[in-house]
Amino acid sequence: MSAKRLSKLDAPKVLTNDEKVMAESDMIVSKTDLKGFITYANRTFMDFCGYSEDELLGANHNLIRHPDMPKIAFKLCWDLIQSKREFFGFVKNLRKDGGLYWVFAYITADIDTSGNIIGYSSFRRKPSKAGLDAITPIYKKLIEIEKSEGMLASEEFLNKFLSDNNTSYNELVTSLQLS
Ligand SMILES: Cc1cc2nc3c(=O)[nH]c(=O)nc-3n(C[C@H](O)[C@H](O)[C@H](O)COP(=O)(O)O)c2cc1C
Repeated sequence: MSAKRLSKLDAPKVLTNDEKVMAESDMIVSKTDLKGFITYANRTFMDFCGYSEDELLGANHNLIRHPDMPKIAFKLCWDLIQSKREFFGFVKNLRKDGGLYWVFAYITADIDTSGNIIGYSSFRRKPSKAGLDAITPIYKKLIEIEKSEGMLASEEFLNKFLSDNNTSYNELVTSLQLS
């Protein structure tokens, strides 16, 4: 583990639109402790984000947080996984070189035989084009709301959008990924 625990404060400040696109056969895997500090990264994860294993182990997973991601997505994720439910979602990630990569993520708690959460795991596949086309303007709107009115307002917007469309968050994103 490198001496310094990297976090989003160490992420690149100059961002580009250079996108590394996942192949159908790629699977990006990482695991964290209870607080979101990385405990495992597979080779594909290192290839996509551009950080070495030494840099990733012990780093906060927010190291690769992209500013185009709305805060509410991560709140939803943590609320679900901390209550032992699964999170699915389209996530835009920031690479070490300032570029980006999109994933369709599945995140879940790792639970021991006594029922205690001992960490979290995430597995990511190539996101569907239909999913990215649909989610990109929604994330943009959520970020605008977060900037002007805060995260409570973006949560309300998202909940209204879901009830207007008669769906739940997980239902929406899994159906988008399969479309
Ligand atoms: C297992 C696991 C995997 C995660 N993977 C990512 C990821 O790939 N990209 C990301 O931005 N956040 C990921 N997160 C969420 C981060 O922990 C964090 O909540 C998010 O980056 C927002 O950070 P911030 O609230 O400090 O801005 C993951 C969390 C867990 C538990």
